[in-house]
Amino acid sequence: MKTLMMIVLLSVASPAWGMDIPDADSAGGKLFAQKCSVCHALPSPRRLNWMYWQHILGLMKERMDERGVPEPSRKEWKLIASYLKAHAR
Ligand code: HEC
Repeated sequence: MKTLMMIVLLSVASPAWGMDIPDADSAGGKLFAQKCSVCHALPSPRRLNWMYWQHILGLMKERMDERGVPEPSRKEWKLIASYLKAHAR
């Protein structure tokens, strides 16, 4: 029974990898975590370089429009972008 509990606890805790991002408490980090985990798991900011992130942000804007997911405001996009820029690989 104990092992089962451990497995349950671990599987509940593991989606938290998404929150395991640098500067998670900053305004940009929070917005990123909130807006970019609506349709898929939160990607790590270190996964891509800034050039690719810019491209991805444009794509994600289209995905949000297609799916009727409310887009971040201009100000929020800026915060998310500067957060990614700061933590890109
Ligand atoms: C409306 C749903 C939606 C939201 C919100 C969303 N995405 Fe995505 N994302 C997708 C879909 C769908 C894909 C699959 C690839 C595609 O269709 O472009 C994807 C793929 C990705 C990928 C993987 C690309 C690859 O080639 O591996 C990254 C990175 C990504 N999104 C980052 C983000 C970031 C950063 C945000 C927040 C600004 C975000 N996503 C918000 C729908 C979304």
